[in-house]
Amino acid sequence: WPTTARRSEGEVTIGGVGVRELAAAHGTPLFVMDEEDFRSRARDYRTAFSDADVYYAGKALLNKAVARWVVEEGLKLDVCSGGELAVALAAGVPAERIGMHGNNKSVNELRRAAEAGVGRIIIDSFDEITRLESVAAALGVRPKVLIRVTTGVEAHTHEFVATAHDDQKFGFALSTGAAAAAVRGVLDAPHLELVGLHSHIGSQIFDTSGFEVAARRVARFLTGIHEDLGVTLAELDLGGGLGIAYTSGDDPLEPKAIAASLTSIVRRECQDAGLPMPRIAVEPGRALAGPAGITVYEVGTVKDVEGIRTYVSVDGGMSDNIRTALYGSEYTSQLVSRESTAAPMLSRLVGKHCESGDIIVHDLYLPADLRPGDLVAVAATGAYCYSMASNYNHLPRPAMVAVRDGSARVIVRRESEEDLLRLDVG
Ligand code: LLP
Repeated sequence: WPTTARRSEGEVTIGGVGVRELAAAHGTPLFVMDEEDFRSRARDYRTAFSDADVYYAGKALLNKAVARWVVEEGLKLDVCSGGELAVALAAGVPAERIGMHGNNKSVNELRRAAEAGVGRIIIDSFDEITRLESVAAALGVRPKVLIRVTTGVEAHTHEFVATAHDDQKFGFALSTGAAAAAVRGVLDAPHLELVGLHSHIGSQIFDTSGFEVAARRVARFLTGIHEDLGVTLAELDLGGGLGIAYTSGDDPLEPKAIAASLTSIVRRECQDAGLPMPRIAVEPGRALAGPAGITVYEVGTVKDVEGIRTYVSVDGGMSDNIRTALYGSEYTSQLVSRESTAAPMLSRLVGKHCESGDIIVHDLYLPADLRPGDLVAVAATGAYCYSMASNYNHLPRPAMVAVRDGSARVIVRRESEEDLLRLDVG
């Protein structure tokens, strides 16, 4: 639960604002972002990585307010599409503080990034080397680029979010020589300035060893480039992926601890090779946005399936949180609009979509006197929920409010049915 969440006279407050008031003013489902929680996590990363660049990974959650918080707290911003770039620029993020990712950036996306003058573009394929070289030549610019390498590390996480083993779509493998060929390819491209290497092993990771092995491998590759080609690369981006606590069983890594261990690994490799320490970058997304957000839903029906469990249906579902259905993710939820002393009842929190996989929390205990009209909230939904939201079954996307110091403001308005029809010109 976000750090400012409290129970006061029965109901839960967040950022000093009660959930009943939030639901009455803004409707449900409602994403509530604890601004102070987000900002303080951003500051923790800034402090832990004081000699490094911290790029917030916008794919976790991006809108203009969040982009401004990121900049105000001294972070940079990682975007991975033209759409995210547009939000960042609309929010006034200085282009040089933006890094651009993507395994299949279009010519148009590359052109907009190069034209805007983004701080770096992370190259992911040989096709992209050719594509960006010709875009840069046409514009008469020379963008700074990093090469994304895959280190062969098997991250212990869900297969869909592990990204550094060999059999997947991202980056250039170190093991096959593709990464070395990419370095030569970029060095041969006159309009690209090679400044460093990038590695990202996956997401929702709790174990430091994967990060450490990857850091060592990519640092050795960097020193090898110096030995073989006489080129000194100034930057090493070690990606994101730090796990957060969705349930009480999860034990997140401390940014300070991971910063110390990764820095010392890179320093040792570079010292041994007689090279200066490169500037390190990291790209946390979930670790900043995830814990700061909750989703507030209104209970619509409470259905006892005799002898099995009670199905509690709320007014959202897989369109605002696909993660349970997609990854089997676990969440916690509780009654937030009042206190109850009723006995716990084994429940399943489900949405209102037309399929039985529309589950938000598989197994949880909710009070037996739960009834329609009660508000329940799901914790740790700040990352990869709104950003992966859909309009399945033509459900308008929820609003998002930011709460802080006793006041709430809408940062993304609720979609209306007119919004849904706006593009339908048939
Ligand atoms: N950098 C790169 C290059 C990435 O691909 C990602 C995440 C990040 C940074 C940020 O990772 P984080 O710190 O948030 O773990 N939709 C999935 C997560 C996909 C992550 C994709 N890349 C989920 O809901 O779990």
